[in-house]
Amino acid sequence: MATLISHSPEETEALGEKFGRAVRPGWVIALSGELGAGKTQFVKGLVRGLGVSARVHSPTFTLVAEYDGGRLKLFHLDLYRLETRQQILSAGVEEYLQPDGVAVIEWAERMAEVWPDTDWKKVRIETLNDTDREIIYDDFGA
Ligand SMILES: Nc1ncnc2c1ncn2[C@@H]1O[C@H](COP(=O)(O)OP(=O)(O)OP(=O)(O)O)[C@@H](O)[C@H]1O
Ligand SMILES: [Mg+2]
Repeated sequence: MATLISHSPEETEALGEKFGRAVRPGWVIALSGELGAGKTQFVKGLVRGLGVSARVHSPTFTLVAEYDGGRLKLFHLDLYRLETRQQILSAGVEEYLQPDGVAVIEWAERMAEVWPDTDWKKVRIETLNDTDREIIYDDFGA
C-alpha cells in the first residue's frame, strides 16, 4: 500500500496517468470514496496514461463506458446506482472482473461483499477538504 496527498485535481489525475502507463491486461482497479472525491478525475488520468484521447464522464446511467484506441482496451464502470446485492448481480458486472483489457470501477465498495475474492488493485480516495485528498492505493509497480 502507498499513500499520496493530492492537492489538486491535476495531481489526482497524474496518479491515474501513472497507473495507466503501468496497467497490465486483466487488471481490475477498484475505486472507492465519497461523492466528489475524485474517482472520475483519476480515471481521466488513467485514460490518458493508456494513450486514449477521449472525454471522460462517470457512466452513472449506462453502467459501463468503453475506451478503445489505447495500449489496452478500458472498461469504466460506475456502480453508484446499484445499491443491493441483487441489483449488482443482475447488472452484468461480473464479466468485467476478468476484462479483455482493463476495468476501472467507481463505487467498487458496492461489490466488495458480492465478490470478496476478486483480485483487484484498490484505490481509496478520502476527501480532506476542498482541494486535498488522501489517496491510499495498492502498489502498481511503477
Ligand atoms: N485533489 C483533488 N483531486 C481530485 N479532485 C479534486 C481535488 N480537489 C478538488 N477536486 C474536485 O473534486 C471533484 C471531483 O469530482 P469527480 O467527478 O472526479 O468525483 P467522483 O469521486 O467521481 O464523484 P462521483 O461519486 O459523483 O462519481 C472535481 O470537481 C474536482 O475538480
Ligand atoms: Mg465519478
